[in-house]
Parts: sequence; C-alpha cells; structure tokens
Amino acid sequence: MINSKNEMKNLISKMTLEEKIAQMYQLYGGVYDFPEEEGSIPVTGPAEEWEFEEQLLFKIGSVLNVNRAQKARKIQKKYLENNRHEIPLMFMYDIIHGYKTIFPIPLGSACSWDMELIEESARVAAREGSVSGINVTFSPMADLVRDARWGRVMESPGEDPLINEKMAAALVKGYQGTDLKKDDTVAACVKHFAAYGAVEAGREYNTVDLSDYRLNNYYLSGYKAGIDAGARMIMTAFNTLNGVPATGNQYLIQDILREKWDFFGPVISDYGSVSELIAHGYAKNGKEAAQKAVQAGVDIEMVTPEYIKHLADLVTEEVIAEKKIDTAVERILNLKYDLGLFSDPFRYINESGEEKYHLCSTHRKKARQLAAESMVLLENDGVLPLKENLEEVTLLGPFADSGKMLGNWSGEGDADDTVTAKEGLVNELPDETELNVYSQIENISQGKFLDIIETVKKSAATILAVGEPQSWSGEARSRTRLTLPEPQEKFIKKLVNVLKEEEEELNLVLVLFNGRPLELEWYSENIPAILEAWYPGTEGGHAVADILLGQVNPSGKLTISFPYSVGQMPLYYNRYSTGRPPMDQEVEKKNCSRYLDVPNHALYPFGYGLSYTEFEYHNINLEKNKITAGETNQLNFALKNSGQYKGQEVVQLYIKDCYANRVRPILELKGYQKISLAPGEKKNISFEITEEMLIYFDENGQNVIEPGAFEIYLGSSSKDLRECGILEYQI
Ligand code: NOJ
Repeated sequence: MINSKNEMKNLISKMTLEEKIAQMYQLYGGVYDFPEEEGSIPVTGPAEEWEFEEQLLFKIGSVLNVNRAQKARKIQKKYLENNRHEIPLMFMYDIIHGYKTIFPIPLGSACSWDMELIEESARVAAREGSVSGINVTFSPMADLVRDARWGRVMESPGEDPLINEKMAAALVKGYQGTDLKKDDTVAACVKHFAAYGAVEAGREYNTVDLSDYRLNNYYLSGYKAGIDAGARMIMTAFNTLNGVPATGNQYLIQDILREKWDFFGPVISDYGSVSELIAHGYAKNGKEAAQKAVQAGVDIEMVTPEYIKHLADLVTEEVIAEKKIDTAVERILNLKYDLGLFSDPFRYINESGEEKYHLCSTHRKKARQLAAESMVLLENDGVLPLKENLEEVTLLGPFADSGKMLGNWSGEGDADDTVTAKEGLVNELPDETELNVYSQIENISQGKFLDIIETVKKSAATILAVGEPQSWSGEARSRTRLTLPEPQEKFIKKLVNVLKEEEEELNLVLVLFNGRPLELEWYSENIPAILEAWYPGTEGGHAVADILLGQVNPSGKLTISFPYSVGQMPLYYNRYSTGRPPMDQEVEKKNCSRYLDVPNHALYPFGYGLSYTEFEYHNINLEKNKITAGETNQLNFALKNSGQYKGQEVVQLYIKDCYANRVRPILELKGYQKISLAPGEKKNISFEITEEMLIYFDENGQNVIEPGAFEIYLGSSSKDLRECGILEYQI
C-alpha cells in the first residue's frame, strides 16, 4: 500500500516503461464487459483491432463510461488481482448536469445566476456518481459561446466571462467538496482547453482563429476560474487555435496552463484528439501525433492508441525523455492518491448508496428548485401566472407529456423517471380543473385541428409545450437555422391565425424546451406569454407547473443573447466599440455599423428576464467620482418590489471603459446580486467597485489598468440600464 507521495515516487521508479505509458492511457469501459466466471477477458472492439493484449487491460491508468457500482467493483477487483503494483484503476464519466437526478442543462442553470444552488446541484451529482464508482467527471465545460448555431451551446454557461468564471468555480466546488478523499466527491475536469466555443460559423469541430487579445479577455478566464477553484484535471479541445490543434498546443498547455497558472494536475486529451492530429494535418502519422501531444503536455490519451503504440519507441529513440513520462505518471498517480484510491480502491463503489441516493426525494427537490430558477420569462402580457378559476386548461405539443426533456449529456438520467409537463400540472392544478392534453400537433388532419381549436376556445389557458427534439443540441449538433421544427411552427401559426380571425381571446402560453437561443420574433409579436424552460431535467414538469401557476415567481435572466435572426451570429452584448456606432445620430445618417433588416442588438438580450412582480431602482449613488490606485468605491442604491408578488431580481453591475490603449467592449458585466423581496419591500444594496473591475488583459495576458474614465451602470438586463455616473481612475 502507498501511504505517501514519496512512496509513490518510489513506486514509479519500480515501474517498467511499458507500465508507465499504460498509466497515460484511457480506454472505454466496454472492453471490460467480461463474463462473470474467472478466466481471461476477451479483447474486443477497436482494442482488438489495435491488437491490444489482455495484459494491457490490467496496466492502463483509467477507463471511461463504466456507470454502475457493481460493474466498477468487478472491474477494479479483477484489475487489482492482475496489476503487479496494485495500482488502482480510475473511473471517469461525463456527469454534466446530474447523474441519475438530472438538473437543467448548464445553459439553463446559468440563467438562474444562483451559484450556490448550482454548487449544490454539483454536490448532488457527485454524490450520485461517486456511489456508482465514478472518480472523475468531465465537467465543468468552461467554453464561452457566442454562436447559437453550435450544438454544444447547451453545455456552456453562455456568452459572458464573469458568469463563465462563477459557474466553473461553483461546479468544481460542488463536485470536489471540501476534501476529495471523502467518498461523496468526484474530481472535476475542466474542459475544453481552449476556446472550443469559438468554432467558426458555429460548425462543430471547426477552426478557431482568435486574436490573443480576444482570447485573453473573453475566453480563458472560465478555465482559469475552474483551476483556481481546485479542479484536479483539464481536457484539451478538438479544435485548432490559431493554426495549432489544442491537443498539440505547447502555448496553451506549457506557457499558459503550467507556467502561468501553475496547474499541477493531469491534462487529458479529448476523445480521440491525439489521433486527430493526423487529420488536422499537424502530424504525419500516429507516432508523430503521440510525440507532438506528449511534447505539448498531454498526460493522458483518451481512447485512440497512439501512446500505447509509439511512446516506448519515442523514448528509446530519445525523441522523448523518460523524465517527461515520469512526470506525467506522477501527476496521474497523485490524482489517484488524492482521491484516496491507494488506501481503498473500492472507496467510492457503494451499491447500497445507489439505492439510497439515486433520485432520492432530497435530490429531486433540488432539481425542481434549480429547474424553476433556470426558466426565463420572455413575454407576459398578463396571461401568467394562470389565475385561480381555471375550469379548463389545454396542454399541447410534443413536450406535453414526454420525459424526453432531460437534454443531451444527461448521464444515467432516464425519461421514465422524469416528471412530464402533464404530470407536473396534474399534481399542481386545483382538483376541479380539467386538463386537456394533445401531444400530437405535427402533421395532423384538418379534423383533428378543428377539434383542438374548439378545445382551445373553451379553455382558460392553452399551453404550447414545444421545442427542439433533444437530439438537436449537444456534441455534433450544429444547425444553420434557429427555428422551431417546421411542423410545430406551422401548427402554432395556423392556431394563432384562426383564433385571431375568429376574434377569440389569445390565452396562449408558449413553453419552450430547447438547448440554444432560437429566433422568436414572430412569437414575441403574436403569443402573449413565452417561457424559456430549456431542457429542465428530471423535475422539469413540476418546475414548469410551479412557474405557470405562480408558486414560483420566475427570476431567470438570459446568459446568452436571443437573436432576431441567425444572420446576427455571433451575437453578444459585450462587443467591442466600433468607429461608427449606430446609436450616434450623426453617423446614423451616413454609413454606420448595422444591418438593414434587423437591429444590432438581440431580440432578448443578455441579462433579460421578466418577473410577475416589478422592481424599482431608487437613490442610486456612486460615492466617489474619482479613485486612485489601491482605492475602492461604493455604488449604493435601493431596490423596491413595487408589484404584487414576492420575487427575486438579479441586479447587474455593468462598466464601460470609455477610452484606452485597446478598443474596449461597449459594456461588461462586473458584478451581480440576486435579491429577494416581498411585495412592497425595499432594500438598500451596494456594490463595491474595485480596481480589478477596471482591468483588461493585453495580448500577452498581462493585466493592464490605465488612468481614464469608466461609465457605471446598474442593469435589470444589458439593455435596461440605469446610469450611475462616471468614475475617473487615476494612478
Ligand atoms: C467528447 C467530448 O467532446 C467531451 O466533452 C467528453 O468529455 C468526451 N467525449 C468523453 O465522453
């Protein structure tokens, strides 16, 4: 048994080169699907093609996608019986937004702006995953995204660096807890380093070409925040960055991650991305791919076989120093040590824990809470919350009674364990309400349509539960259209037109289930209430009912812009100033930076979201209008709930750097608070304005703070701003 890190170093000195290289390799768990009886393990699938020998299976460092305690126990046992050093195997998995109890997709969770709750969701996911034997989760994803065409936008926190940082840190803390050795933790692996979210034209796996200025100011801080919060691992990305694939990128891994950020944990490639160096045209063959990945600093190759096939030769030929291999192995074994696997390789494997924790009521309650807080009310002309005397309510659409609203990357989540919108409403509506449900609205006959219309006319409210099928977002799910599926769109337009023609009241509520911003201009003009529900997870149906019936007042605010048109992509609020901004009247008359057909801004901007109540901002006061180096300033104001419902407002602090030696964004989020107020209640609130908020990075990633003027705003969104004054900064 290994009792100290020194003993571990000693162990490394006893390992053969082959054993060390095997630790730097991760295989998919399916290979270990061996029969219960003793005997040999048949090497199957690609591992067979690669001519891996059975013995190698007992030397490799980690596996991915083993997802049950019983399975993990069987594999670990067999592995340890055959590993001459008794080095435990490490199990990794994508726990992205829950393991069995599924929380909203990360883009949805981010819209809650509630980092404590997000941290708790990761605690729940860690508890559920760890009892099933998972040691490392491939989360958080800290890829900043400005292009809704990219399918993985659902996994990201959206377009803002501050939200990205806060969310990465909250997730890491939630997964890892206070002590990684505790058996309800998993180690966090930040991904995808770096700038995967900036793939050109939103097309999956495409090129990323970014200036260093932009990389440093927008894209890197999320990963760094995850590392600073203690994440024990990091994953490279599939994309190139400025001509060099991330998996062979010394600048990213050596210069930034190791040198600047002092990251000491293992770096893992993404799935197959070492071999993909060949397809990128960055390596002539597998051997060169292995060489370039190791030289760049990738410690673990995920799944493809280049390390296993070529590293030993590269060391023998002295192309790669054995010292480099030793360092990588030390990082990997250190992680196993920190997870407590050397003292008890079965520490996390807990069959009865699976019974106890998976989908337990406490976890479901948290999922319901976060799902409701994630939802963003986009429109409401008074239809919501649904009023008390609801004799008849109609629920329409493919998401009316379907559990398929967990969203992509939903771990071991199951649609059958999911509360559908219908179930949620049945549980929460008054007993006397009659609920009519029509799940099928696509390509229906005229007879059926007329039937539906008659029901809608008699109903106090009609809820249209529509959206993108789950498989439309996630990895390799890029789209060039940001529309609802055509048959759904057709149905809704026909329904609205008929109701309008017949001068019927439009008591319609559009509830959207989707993984990316959509083009909603027509809906915003024609449907009185729109609720963005994202893919809300296991308790989605309850959360929808909570919001629609007013048991929870919506408080979600968008962390990503919703466009008028896909042609606006990439669209984000914190864009650089231009020489001819459209808001300048003089320039407006001439040529300016704008489109002829849609505005520059979003239909629903970053930070936007309605509530059932109203908030007023009073007595805004910036204490000083000048600060010098080392000083801080205070922004004070009072927030009043002037409406009828208890509610929460996300107050947002924005700063604009008026002039500098680099062109700066027109606005940047620098702080926020989520404030809860009873009807009529007023609270004094303050933000501390620090020097740090006035800093930007130059192209070398160095902090720059210049004397100058900074406009300070309080926002209810990035478009609904209150001027607070101009702050001068002097050195
Ligand atoms: C590929 C994905 O890009 C990555 O996010 C994931 O963690 C790995 N596959 C492992 O499943």
